[in-house]
Order: sequence, then C-alpha cells, then structure tokens
Amino acid sequence: MGKNLVFGLLAGALVIAFGCSGSGSGGGTTAYTLEQFQFPLTSKDVARGEEVYAEYCEGCHPGGEKGDGPSIVNEGYPPAKVRWQIRSGLDDMPAFGPDKISDADLEAVLAYAETLGAVKR
Ligand code: HEC
Repeated sequence: MGKNLVFGLLAGALVIAFGCSGSGSGGGTTAYTLEQFQFPLTSKDVARGEEVYAEYCEGCHPGGEKGDGPSIVNEGYPPAKVRWQIRSGLDDMPAFGPDKISDADLEAVLAYAETLGAVKR
C-alpha cells in the first residue's frame, strides 16, 4: 500500500509536469473575464458541490454565513459573478484555479450555492 501510494504520487507528478510543459496557456497567468462565465448553471450535483464547498469555502463562509468572508446566504448573485470570483479571487478571497476546483466541481459548487440562495439562475 505504501509503495503504491508513492508510485501514484510520482505518476501524478509526471502528469502535472507534462501537462504544464505544453502550449503555454494556463499556468496561473490566465486573466478571467466576466463575459466568459455568462451561461446558466449546468450542474444539479448538490451533493458534490457540498463536498467541494466544505473543502474550499466553508472555512470563510461557514454554512454560507459570515465568517472571515461575508454571508452569502440569500444574496442571489448572478452565476457569472460567482464563477469569476472563485476563479479570480477578490480582496481577501483567494483565487481557486482549475488545478484546485475543476470546471465540473465549480458548477457543482454553484448548484450547492443555489440551495443557500447565494446564486440565482
Ligand atoms: C480565505 C477566506 C475565503 C475563502 C476560502 C472563500 N472566500 Fe468567498 N469571500 C471571502 C471574502 C473576504 C469575501 C469578500 C470579498 C469582497 O467583496 O471584498 C468573499 C466574498 C464571496 C462572495 C460574495 C461576492 C461579493 O463580492 O459580495 C461569494 C459568492 C463567495 N465569496 C463565495 C465563495 C466560495 C463559493 C468559496 C469557495 C470556492 C469561497 N467564497 C471561499 C473570503 C473567502
């Protein structure tokens, strides 16, 4: 088991190394625009969204309420704004790139945020 884990980590590191050596796009220099995020919610995977939220958002927005960040409950933000903010960060809110939250997980987080009233379709 221990050996398999080490091997898995090495294989993962190789994939990452090759992934980044390619085209030169991405790599943390991407500038996101609000326009590119203007589309309706694409996920209904609230359960997955809750997991992702617990890992990346809960610390500052506990249950959607005020923590280190503001309360987002029933704020009804447009999805594009929330997508942009998660990808770009804003003030004390860190950016979460696709290396941390995949596009699918980002959509799942929005599905969960909708249950808090934080996002309005
Ligand atoms: C390190 C703390 C921190 C983490 C982690 C964090 N946020 Fe925030 N969040 C903030 C702060 C601070 C603000 C206020 C930013 C501002 O407007 O100045 C904020 C604002 C927001 C807003 C409101 C938009 C606005 O500007 O009024 C939303 C929605 C939001 N966060 C969602 C999320 C989601 C979803 C995650 C997880 C992917 C997350 N946040 C992770 C600190 C955090």
